[in-house]
Amino acid sequence: MKRKILVTSALPYANGSIHLGHLVEYIQTDIWVRFQKMQGHECHYVCADDTHGTPIMLRAQAEGITPEALIERVWHEHKADFDGFHVEFDNYYSTNSDENRELAQNIYRSLRDQAKLITTKTIEQYYDPEKEMFLPDRFIKGECPKCHALDQYGDSCEVCGATYAPTDLINPVSAVSGATPVRKESEHYFFTLGACTDFLKEWTNAGHLQPEAANKMQEWIGGGLQNWDISRDAPYFGFEIPDAPGKYFYVWLDAPVGYMASFKNLCNSKQAPSTIAPSPLRGEGWGEGKSPPDFDAFWNAEKAAQEGTELYHFIGKDILYFHALFWPAMLEFSGHRTPTGVFAHGFLTVNGQKMSKSRGTFITAASYRKYLNPEQLRYYFAAKLNSSIEDIDLSLEDFTARVNSDLIGKFVNIASRSAGFITKRFDGKLGGMGDQTLAQQLQGAAKAIAAQYEAREYGKALRDIMRLTDLANQYVDENKPWELAKQEGMESRLHEACSVSLNLFRLLTLYLKPVLPKLAADVEAFFNIAPLTWQDAQTLLPVGHAINPYQHLMTRIDPKQVEAMTEENKATLAPAAEHSPARHAEKQTHEIQPIAETISIDDFMKIDLRIAKIVNAEHVEGADKLLQLTLDIGEGKTRNVFAGIKSAYAPEKLIGRHTVMVANLAPRKMKFGLSEGMVLAASGDGGLYILSPDEGAKPGMRVK
Ligand code: 2FM
Ligand code: ZN
Repeated sequence: MKRKILVTSALPYANGSIHLGHLVEYIQTDIWVRFQKMQGHECHYVCADDTHGTPIMLRAQAEGITPEALIERVWHEHKADFDGFHVEFDNYYSTNSDENRELAQNIYRSLRDQAKLITTKTIEQYYDPEKEMFLPDRFIKGECPKCHALDQYGDSCEVCGATYAPTDLINPVSAVSGATPVRKESEHYFFTLGACTDFLKEWTNAGHLQPEAANKMQEWIGGGLQNWDISRDAPYFGFEIPDAPGKYFYVWLDAPVGYMASFKNLCNSKQAPSTIAPSPLRGEGWGEGKSPPDFDAFWNAEKAAQEGTELYHFIGKDILYFHALFWPAMLEFSGHRTPTGVFAHGFLTVNGQKMSKSRGTFITAASYRKYLNPEQLRYYFAAKLNSSIEDIDLSLEDFTARVNSDLIGKFVNIASRSAGFITKRFDGKLGGMGDQTLAQQLQGAAKAIAAQYEAREYGKALRDIMRLTDLANQYVDENKPWELAKQEGMESRLHEACSVSLNLFRLLTLYLKPVLPKLAADVEAFFNIAPLTWQDAQTLLPVGHAINPYQHLMTRIDPKQVEAMTEENKATLAPAAEHSPARHAEKQTHEIQPIAETISIDDFMKIDLRIAKIVNAEHVEGADKLLQLTLDIGEGKTRNVFAGIKSAYAPEKLIGRHTVMVANLAPRKMKFGLSEGMVLAASGDGGLYILSPDEGAKPGMRVK
């Protein structure tokens, strides 16, 4: 029976680059979707950029552009990364769309008017009196109330791991303006999640979640569900709440609605998405007899039940709370269908550790693409993925060994050892297969492999496929076409051996196609055949079928490429990498922060700025942001200064450079030692640059 399936991946925020951690999810989802399409099901895969919220608003301000301009630029960057990794959405949209505004507001109205699940309450929060805005926890910094580490966020301490309320921070400052925040009251809108407890108890236990996730949700529900604060005060980049001037939906309210909006946009589009995968929706326009999907059939509670449509969300385990509690409750009580399944995956580690900028393992999609083949990462991730929420590890050494052994040594090798003879000796035409036992064995595996893809047990699927690949290789090894080719009177055995190998290769390609779509397309072109579907596993290429000359399909990974990639990621630590100085240079007309209050020359002369030579720079054990600098300003002794510039500079790159320091700042006692001054740096959301006077400046010179 042809299923009707709608699939989503989590919407990436529109203020950062796609990195390998993100790609685990998009690759996992894309494989599943491609598999469903190969099965002949109607499957739609939608996603969008998650564009609202304070960080995006502030980032745009820091770059001197409008939020709309920022999200437009990032959309193109994200789309290029997804295309590069062959993640093929049927629609990639934006949450800042008319469809999303209308859907979010309508859901809110139903929750308020029909379900009576919206309440208001006045709450007190930190407010930045200079910037005139309420501050999210992440934008308040201060001293940890527990371990007294300085410069910690308003919700948790990176040094001791304590979590607390922003109001517990000692000496809080606004990370936006540097002002001391004040407490201020404001009315907030709440979704009364507590009133949905019975529904959620049942829903989270009804097979929509993985067992580990269901247990976690039951635990949270048991602990009592807090009402959810869904409003934010202006200024905020987002959608206004109906009948509540100056109040905006919190980004997490309209983000999941973005799934619906992206699908709605697809339903209303004149053209079918063009796709390389065989899909019922292929081609120009929607095609003859094809029509766009029906929005209500997938989202209206009654219609979805009638038509048996399915809805699946692939997400990271960190956002389960939103997808397994808030989202089903929002849908249920606004007359919509709820998800058929929410599939959470674990986090990515690289070489057994959290991705790290200093180790060069915080790898962006763009930098990976510069050095390595995206399908090889798809293969490796697939080999590691299963249906659980366990973390997965990318060991770069294992990655190299596995891809080279499985894909080059085993898989591609089958074709490369047989294809040439067909072209040279048999006019490009396949022959008969003689004994078909091995081909039948491969064909017989179609069902089991399909079941593994369906269950998201990709690792198991690939292990089975590789076992079959070994059998195919054994066949080639035993029949030795290269030797048959040299012997007299062996024409027909050579023809048969090569035809069998190539038929086996075609079946293996079919099984690998959800994971390696580009390579499969190249193989289809080589075989001169229509895009392979799962059904095609039951047929073989007939005698006389003409193939095209074989062209090289995939290159081995050279460990040097991997090394070059990690080195590059080390050298251009993230903020600087994302926003290169060149990009900043293009934007000389930035809107800048307001100029501070005028001071007299006497005030200025109080600040003693000196050229300092950085004689040493090192990491500080336990500090995520600080570097310890040893500065020489010609006093005959050096100064020790802690500077929050670790995100932008590798210590070894700083040694020997000149910078400017405030030499008469009162020494400050920090957790890691005494800081005897401050180095000057320019920073925005996207980069951090210490001032670097050129050669002529000498340590100790005064800067005026
Ligand atoms: O955690 C995140 O990156 C969010 N931008 C995911 C949103 S998923 C959905 F609900 F929109
Ligand atoms: Zn602490």
